[in-house]
Amino acid sequence: MNITDQLKGEHEIILRFLGILKEACNRVQRGAFDDITFFERCITFLREYADSYHYDKEERVLFPAMEQAGIAYQQHRHIEHKYVYQLMADLDRAVTANNLSAIPAPALEYTNLLEEHIITENKALYPEVERVLDDHQKEEIQKEFDRIEGVITNEKDHNYIIAEVDQLENYLP
Ligand SMILES: [Fe+2]
Ligand SMILES: [Fe+2]
Repeated sequence: MNITDQLKGEHEIILRFLGILKEACNRVQRGAFDDITFFERCITFLREYADSYHYDKEERVLFPAMEQAGIAYQQHRHIEHKYVYQLMADLDRAVTANNLSAIPAPALEYTNLLEEHIITENKALYPEVERVLDDHQKEEIQKEFDRIEGVITNEKDHNYIIAEVDQLENYLP
């Protein structure tokens, strides 16, 4: 049984989104993009998809299960999540204040950190999860994942999330 393939799939969507956010920041820095609505939508996407949908599965379910199994490996990933939330707050402040020039710094730091975080999870943490946990533990985790998905979103909402990434990409012809 495999419980991390779906998390890797979510990483793919987040990575695609981060590429779009990075490009928008580069354009702001060149003076070639000034649409604050784009960044408002980015924050909504990050809150709904990265925070509530993906990190919650890791923070509330996966990390505690690994801890219970006696593996401390995920602790650093947990610290990175905290830093990601902090950068997200900085980004939110800049967007709320309509301060375009203050957006790229936290946003680019956010994208760089999260890209590395995702690579490490894919390469090291997730294989460890698959190796250490037995099928019974994985079944329990899968149930919790399903519950989080059910609370946060449904199939229709999930399609909306993917469509939102497409729309954000269209902001940057
Ligand atoms: Fe993570
Ligand atoms: Fe992750």
